[in-house]
Amino acid sequence: MKRSKINNLIDEGITFLNSRNYTLPPQASWSLEDWIKNREKVGEITKRRIGWDLTDFDSGDYKKTGLLLYTLSNGFIGQDGKPVDQPFSNKILLVEENQVTPMHHHRSKMEDIINLGGGNLQIKIYNMDKKEGVEKYSPVKIFHNEMWESYEPGTVINLKPGDRIRLDPNHYHEFWGQPGHGKVLVEEVSSVNDDRTDNIFVDKFCRFPEITEDEKPKYLLCTELPGTDKFNDLIQKYLETG
Ligand SMILES: [Fe+2]
Repeated sequence: MKRSKINNLIDEGITFLNSRNYTLPPQASWSLEDWIKNREKVGEITKRRIGWDLTDFDSGDYKKTGLLLYTLSNGFIGQDGKPVDQPFSNKILLVEENQVTPMHHHRSKMEDIINLGGGNLQIKIYNMDKKEGVEKYSPVKIFHNEMWESYEPGTVINLKPGDRIRLDPNHYHEFWGQPGHGKVLVEEVSSVNDDRTDNIFVDKFCRFPEITEDEKPKYLLCTELPGTDKFNDLIQKYLETG
């Protein structure tokens, strides 16, 4: 993805959040210079991958297959595979009409997906089979609006503002904003989350696509904060060489 496009899409996202009276933490609007100024203090933010996360899953068509997220809080997993301190994670997701996050499940994360308003979120669900594939035969038992429900495999659940659904590791899911109803503000409350290893897609999508640097970043993504190689590259490109 081009950096100029990422800058524009995050600008659009902030405009949408303002329209929903949703305010992000201060780091959401920090410039590259702000991150440099605070680089000694933000080690935990880098480690926990807090902040902007924008992906087109390497599809080349963000509006069709893509997602903009902001991780508000997260723990991290230790060498023993368990959360070191905080066992929970919290994100917001901005989902556009007909913009698909492709079919996937999570190896360890259990997530509550909550529609905070705007449009409607449509979620297609299946069970996972014993070989970690999509199972298309048995009903999906799922916790929806705090009640156990059973749905036919492949059912598309329409999550309206105020609705929530709990996706467990055995639930394959794909979601998008319902056309004609507008962009959706979604909250995710989950167990501790490592997006580098936890997302298993049916098709071979890439969670963190390459970025083409065609203009200076207005915002840094959670993968390029102080302490990462990418951060050093950006400083060198835009500040040290003028
Ligand atoms: Fe998911």
